[in-house]
Amino acid sequence: MDKSEGLALGLSGALLLIFFAAIMYASTARGIDVPKCITDPDPFERGQLIEHAEDRYELQMIARMWSFQPGSIEIPVGSELEIYLRATDIIHGFKIEGTNVNMMAVPGSINYQRLRFNEPGTYPLVCHEYCGVGHHNMRGEIVVTES
Ligand code: CUA
Repeated sequence: MDKSEGLALGLSGALLLIFFAAIMYASTARGIDVPKCITDPDPFERGQLIEHAEDRYELQMIARMWSFQPGSIEIPVGSELEIYLRATDIIHGFKIEGTNVNMMAVPGSINYQRLRFNEPGTYPLVCHEYCGVGHHNMRGEIVVTES
């Protein structure tokens, strides 16, 4: 093996280890969660917020032309929100401003992401995928209240 080949292999291996360590750090120490696609869904028919415990909520969110259902929810600060997202017509986007929640709402599947809200305030929801003439009106909000 040529010396430069060995160097390239060594660098590639080191980069793989660094990337793997970065992923492990993000998912464990930073709690960064990537969206999951649930491919065998049991679709809910209407959007709703379900309280499982004082600080644990399940949001069943429906995206459709041109609104989110529910359009506004209120939870206390420190709550963990499990978000299940589906679309009933075409592809929409779902982003919670000021957080790392950024998903696609795709007909026929349910996307999932969870987030703990540690700061009170109003977090706007926006559709970030052009979905037709009413796209710019497709908004909502999550209000996180002081407990
Ligand atoms: Cu829905 Cu843009």
